[in-house]
Amino acid sequence: MTGHAPEPRPGGSVLVTGGAGFIGSHLADALLAQGYRVVVLDDLSTGDQRRVPSGVRFVKGDVRAPGLDTLLLEEKVDTVFHLAAQVDVRKSVEDPVFDAEVNVLGTIRVAQASALAGVAQVVFSSSGGAIYGNPVGERADEEHPLDPCSPYGVAKLAGEKYLAALAPDGGYLLTVLRYANVYGPRQDGRGEAGVIGIWMNRLLSGQDAVVNGDGLQTRDFVHVADVVAANQAAFLHRVPGTFNVGTGVETSVGELYGLVANACGIDTPPRFGPGKPGEQRRSVLDPSRARMALGLAEVVPLAEGMRATSEWFRLHRAQEGLG
Ligand SMILES: NC(=O)c1ccc[n+]([C@@H]2O[C@H](COP(=O)([O-])OP(=O)(O)OC[C@H]3O[C@@H](n4cnc5c(N)ncnc54)[C@H](O)[C@@H]3O)[C@@H](O)[C@H]2O)c1
Repeated sequence: MTGHAPEPRPGGSVLVTGGAGFIGSHLADALLAQGYRVVVLDDLSTGDQRRVPSGVRFVKGDVRAPGLDTLLLEEKVDTVFHLAAQVDVRKSVEDPVFDAEVNVLGTIRVAQASALAGVAQVVFSSSGGAIYGNPVGERADEEHPLDPCSPYGVAKLAGEKYLAALAPDGGYLLTVLRYANVYGPRQDGRGEAGVIGIWMNRLLSGQDAVVNGDGLQTRDFVHVADVVAANQAAFLHRVPGTFNVGTGVETSVGELYGLVANACGIDTPPRFGPGKPGEQRRSVLDPSRARMALGLAEVVPLAEGMRATSEWFRLHRAQEGLG
């Protein structure tokens, strides 16, 4: 399935908002390796400029600031990957106004600027983990009722709707990618699967790790390489529409702890702490549509991805002198 925009021009320019972040920096690496000219816009609020690959034009700035259309025009940007966001679900509960400022107003700015500058495609990083609520039935597909439990989920859903509403007729093609809980090298404690990074850092430094609640709450953990592949496929084949990017495998947080501990070579049991109020009990996505339309048949198995992630954490800790 291909959209109405012309195929991306080899060597053309793309913008990755949030490209100094966990997922955005992996995407910037991949697009650069494919020969595209990559511009990263990031305010470094949670990002780290050291993650931005050399060869990328780095612009320190806020997606909410006016003037984004000028940057898009100057850089002749063909496609915008919009990842910049406030990604901490708990922070969105504590400060929903700030969350909405970044995730709703920021996304409106990106939509308006992309329309004004005549961008061909916008690929939006949304959250399947946060907008469906507890799945009714086995897995949530893209037609599942939308019932976000947190201000973060509400804002991500609003972002999807604004991007669609502000796409002019014949204007940018829109791809919405709803990620499950993303994990992998470079992640820190903030994203939806941030617990993996927190646990690995603690276990590798000889500390214990806490499981909140009874550990029976479930999530769908997808490796960052699969998320990057979904973005690339949506872009290279100009695929419009909304797609879950997950594995379809439901893993309990207790089981996850076992995998993390195993990957770190540690057999200490977890410490159980109180559950977090308002936390979803279950979350698992049906990835069938993306498998068909984006060709994402093979995903990184969790145990394998976990081993590679723990190796990265070990190396990173050694480089930072924390080993
Ligand atoms: N990590 C996950 O599990 C997950 C799951 C679902 C969706 N997502 C989405 O994927 C995207 C990337 O998430 P991540 O895990 O890489 O998070 P991250 O915090 O590592 O990256 C977000 C980046 O956006 C930047 N940023 C924040 N506010 C900004 C602003 N106003 N202007 C410019 N830059 C700003 C930050 O500095 C950071 O570099 C987000 O849109 C997030 O909602 C992530």
